[in-house]
Amino acid sequence: MSSTERQLHLNLFILNTGHHEASWRHRDTLPRQAADVHYYKRLAQTAERGLLDSLFLSDAYGLPPTIRYKVLQGLEPFTLLSALAVATERIGLIGTASTTYNEPFHIARKFASLDHISGGRTGWNIVTSTGNTTAFNFRDEGLPRHEERYERADEFVEVVRGLWDSWEDDALAVDKAAGIYVHPDRLHPLNHKGKFFAVRGPLNIPRPPQGHPLLVQAGASDTGKEFAAKVAEAVFTAQNTLEDGRLFYADLKSRMRKYGRQADQLKVLPGFCAIIGDTEAEAREREAELHGLTQAEYGVYRLSNLFKIDLSVYPLDGPLPYDALPETAEINSQKGRHQLYLDMARREGLTIRDLIMRTASSRGHYAIAGTPLQIADEMERWFRTGAADGFNLMPPYLPGGLDDFVDKVVPELQNRGLFRTEYTGLTLRDHYGLARPSWREYGREHASASRSFT
Ligand SMILES: Cc1cc2nc3c(=O)[nH]c(=O)nc-3n(C[C@H](O)[C@H](O)[C@H](O)COP(=O)(O)O)c2cc1C
Repeated sequence: MSSTERQLHLNLFILNTGHHEASWRHRDTLPRQAADVHYYKRLAQTAERGLLDSLFLSDAYGLPPTIRYKVLQGLEPFTLLSALAVATERIGLIGTASTTYNEPFHIARKFASLDHISGGRTGWNIVTSTGNTTAFNFRDEGLPRHEERYERADEFVEVVRGLWDSWEDDALAVDKAAGIYVHPDRLHPLNHKGKFFAVRGPLNIPRPPQGHPLLVQAGASDTGKEFAAKVAEAVFTAQNTLEDGRLFYADLKSRMRKYGRQADQLKVLPGFCAIIGDTEAEAREREAELHGLTQAEYGVYRLSNLFKIDLSVYPLDGPLPYDALPETAEINSQKGRHQLYLDMARREGLTIRDLIMRTASSRGHYAIAGTPLQIADEMERWFRTGAADGFNLMPPYLPGGLDDFVDKVVPELQNRGLFRTEYTGLTLRDHYGLARPSWREYGREHASASRSFT
């Protein structure tokens, strides 16, 4: 295989005991370790042994009302990723931070710090947050409107990038003899005044090793996709069928042109939940075992929450009450996911109970139970037919589901020339084949609008 041949990019989505909603009840998982750094260290080191591009921590700022039925989301991403940065050497570290409930200066500084700590291995999953559980921890009015959240996100990202560029790459002088620590003319205040933020700058930390940590996004609504096309370099997405995956991929990439971007400057990574067995029967048994641990009451609760209607008054073994459901356009939180579940239920004629089971493993992301060969076949199909540049791996249970993937599926992908056999770069941008934004290209624009810093 030539070294220029396109290869898969694999990200591990770490979620406490795994992505299956009942994984915490499985005999092989360790729910008491959801707040134990050593547990995450082991997962990160396994992922690095498997040469994965990156690992990813999701985040929300509230305790779900359903916590009776499920384990904690995990630890706070910045602190945990700092610990994982020194427990690993090559794997990328992607953390979530909300543009709705943070200030850009804080986020620019934290990711710059993390990029320095990790030697250029960080990425930011930019989220606008969904749901009132988080919202009520910040304001009484609940979640801001969808459009407003994205408008704020747009300005937020512009400010963060401007702050990263407020230091030229070679701003540090450290000339002990002359007594010059920093070249003042290479620091550039931002002087940003916009609708949501007023930020003078510069940042109080040098430009990150990657220039800009990798920008990741996962919105699925029209506004979300437009935002991703404009700023994102990797996109996580929930696609339930190969056909939908292809449509999403083509749609997203075609939107990039109007922002002057090339299609390969953004990697599309659909969620992929693999239940692995040495035989297909063994994989199916594992799946049935996990499904058998689900609690219908919880399933009804989460579907009610998504569809914004109390489904507990409808028969579990009957269809969704389509006439009573709000349209996706009326949904203020997860528009993309709302549409995905509706389409799936309609297309497959699912009852409420069926829909609970279909989404128990991975919340609507693609899920497959099979052998390592079958799983590699499926990944190859998505990759070669325009549905994916790689995958967001969502093991149904941890750590076993990850061990199996690394030990059994990764070698199969390598045999096919679809995945690296060693890390060739040092930074997360290197792994994803994405260029480092040079200060000259990006920073000058901001610098020309500002006075120099003396
Ligand atoms: C794989 C994946 C991971 C996500 N992680 C988070 C997260 O950590 N925190 C969060 O608030 N939203 C998260 N989201 C939600 C998205 O950022 C986005 O808000 C959601 O898809 C709704 O956007 P939309 O209304 O544009 O569809 C995630 C979505 C996906 C597909």
